[in-house]
Amino acid sequence: KIYPVILSGGSGTRLWPLSRAVLPKQLLPLVSDRTMLQDTALRLHGRPQMMAPLVVCGNEHRFLVAEQMREIGIAPLGILLEPVGRNTAPAVAAAAHYLRAIDADAVMLVLPADHVIENVDAFYAAIEHAGAMVDGGALATFGIVPTAPETGYGYIQSGKPAAAAQCYSVDRFVEKPDRATAEGFVAAGNYYWNSGMFLFRADSYLKELQQYAPAIANATESAVNKDYRDLDFCRLDEASFTACPSDSIDYAVMEHTRHAIVVPADIGWNDVGSWSALWEVQQQDAQGNATRGDVYLDDVSGSLVRAESRIVAVVGVKDVVVVETNDAVLVCHKDQVQRVKNIVEHLKTKQ
Ligand code: GDD
Ligand code: MG
Repeated sequence: KIYPVILSGGSGTRLWPLSRAVLPKQLLPLVSDRTMLQDTALRLHGRPQMMAPLVVCGNEHRFLVAEQMREIGIAPLGILLEPVGRNTAPAVAAAAHYLRAIDADAVMLVLPADHVIENVDAFYAAIEHAGAMVDGGALATFGIVPTAPETGYGYIQSGKPAAAAQCYSVDRFVEKPDRATAEGFVAAGNYYWNSGMFLFRADSYLKELQQYAPAIANATESAVNKDYRDLDFCRLDEASFTACPSDSIDYAVMEHTRHAIVVPADIGWNDVGSWSALWEVQQQDAQGNATRGDVYLDDVSGSLVRAESRIVAVVGVKDVVVVETNDAVLVCHKDQVQRVKNIVEHLKTKQ
């Protein structure tokens, strides 16, 4: 049995002005007609061994998440509610404590709610390969062949073939290296990007967490209220969870563990981390434009243009991003989209 654990807690500031704290990108229909959370839940639904998903999200998003799951006809195993965001190590830990109490042998598949995966069959095959290793305590990662020295990803150096087919030991896991280091990794050739998805037994993860970040393991254990396990919403205890240190699974566990393995996964993966990434995964017309809503284009190419509430007309430009919403408009060169997060920082200081 595999329990998907869907992480739906980020705020996706690089997709401003569409993605906001109240309505982050995973709850928006960015790539298809369904939201990214819905696509994530549907992707593996009904495959052999797959149980109903456990969703972990912020308390403020509970009704949106429940409603979006209802819309697609998937009843979640539960929805774990965080009173505050403490990053992914605690979110995954809370899910692990919750699952282990239901099923002592629970294997969890950690899935960010905001990724695109084009080849689902290949992804499922990779999960099956990883599945052959998890009972021995392995923490399985899915490695993506890097196409550029991106600094926003974790890098996995693969080592010797492991006991199961398509699995390799991990010699090194380096989260978000600087540019020069990333360039070295890409040139070396035996490095993968960490996809941010993981497969492991709940108890294996908790054991590693207990060793490398005991404060997170303990705070999250007290935060999972066993009495709420049978309800749809499981509210994590506010005092314990707020007191939990904030860290990502990558820094807290993956950089330290000696039980990591990697399964190379050629699955059409994209984490839609920016407007240019969204442009890449969206359907484009003959001029390479990806559009949504009421837009008028004349002599425009390589651009992403979205209109939410008004008509947007664009003339005689190429490689731009234009995003119109009710209360904000973004116009940005497609090569400069990483700077969009600075806008959000700036707006925060004005509030
Ligand atoms: N429930 C919950 N609570 N979810 C969270 C929280 C939280 O506090 N923080 C982040 N998430 C969700 C985000 O919504 C996202 O789907 C996922 O967890 C990963 O978090 P990010 O903040 O997007 O991580 P990242 O992009 O910086 O890095 C991770 O992903 C990369 C691939 O996209 C790392 O795993 C990298 O190693 C990896 O390469
Ligand atoms: Mg991300």
